[in-house]
Amino acid sequence: MNLVNLFSAVEVLKAGGVVAIPTETVYGLGGWVASPEGLQKIFSTKERPFFDPLIVHIPDIETAKTFTTNWTPIHEALACAAWPGPLTLIADKTDAVDPLITSGLASVGLRCPDHPLTLELLKKVGGVAAPSANKFGKTSPTTATHVFEEFGDAVPVLDGGACKVGIESTVAGVKGNVVEIYRPGFFTAKMLKDILLKKGISAEVIYAESPVAPGQLKHHYMPKIPLVIVPEDFNWKNDSHKVGNALGKTFTHPALWDQPRSPELAARSLYESLRRFDLEGHDVIITKRLSS
Ligand code: TXA
Ligand code: MG
Repeated sequence: MNLVNLFSAVEVLKAGGVVAIPTETVYGLGGWVASPEGLQKIFSTKERPFFDPLIVHIPDIETAKTFTTNWTPIHEALACAAWPGPLTLIADKTDAVDPLITSGLASVGLRCPDHPLTLELLKKVGGVAAPSANKFGKTSPTTATHVFEEFGDAVPVLDGGACKVGIESTVAGVKGNVVEIYRPGFFTAKMLKDILLKKGISAEVIYAESPVAPGQLKHHYMPKIPLVIVPEDFNWKNDSHKVGNALGKTFTHPALWDQPRSPELAARSLYESLRRFDLEGHDVIITKRLSS
């Protein structure tokens, strides 16, 4: 594995290279915001289409403000409560933000990740654009080994251990007095609403109907084998033919996946489990829809 320390990671970024960086959600494939070469390399390494904008990772609120022209009291309140943490805030971008980062949009996604190593890195370089460090459309990485499995030695990795949240940040934008969630994640609408209420702001928080986040495609976070969600009383021995009938194929090596009932624990192990089932040679993943 091509592991680098903090010092080398800074050098690689400043020289226009990419580095995989640890965050609390998933590993990111980072390029320096001030390096068009580094930004290009993110897209070519990931095989990511240019229409999908990148999130800019910053070390603190002060730095976030330098990338935007409309940092509202709602942005401020949410960032104060949630950062460092798994919330990406969309705000109007300044002219200085490279259109390659935003896919030509007038807005930019800003996020302060909760990981000591990456915060240290960000303090040294200012801003790092980073999508999840996986090939486009595939399962996100939550360990340095996952990044290596994805890209081999082509991508240097700053190893910060296993990601503690395990799923991507919530992506939210602000329109007047309404907060719109474009991508669900760790922070729910209720959590954001409560944060704002505590700060004396009574805003509506809604899930955007047709997601405007261009990353929300039909095929995303995809394992290599099919994943089937079954009712709680499903029993593989008796019911496997139902899965076969539905998918038009016979399966013989199911991964019968008992997910933890705690949403936090389920999130933490989600991508790790999907990747493991792929590697273990199963031909289908079966998991139960748990009632709450
Ligand atoms: O947890 C995370 O957010 C991880 C870690 C590495 O920080 N990053 C991540 O990046 O998930 P990525 O590129 O896989 O997903 C970024 C999402 C995409 O759905 C993208 O469309 C959305 O954020 N996004 C970025 N900028 C946006 C903008 N200006 N307007 C709307 N959506 C935006
Ligand atoms: Mg991603």
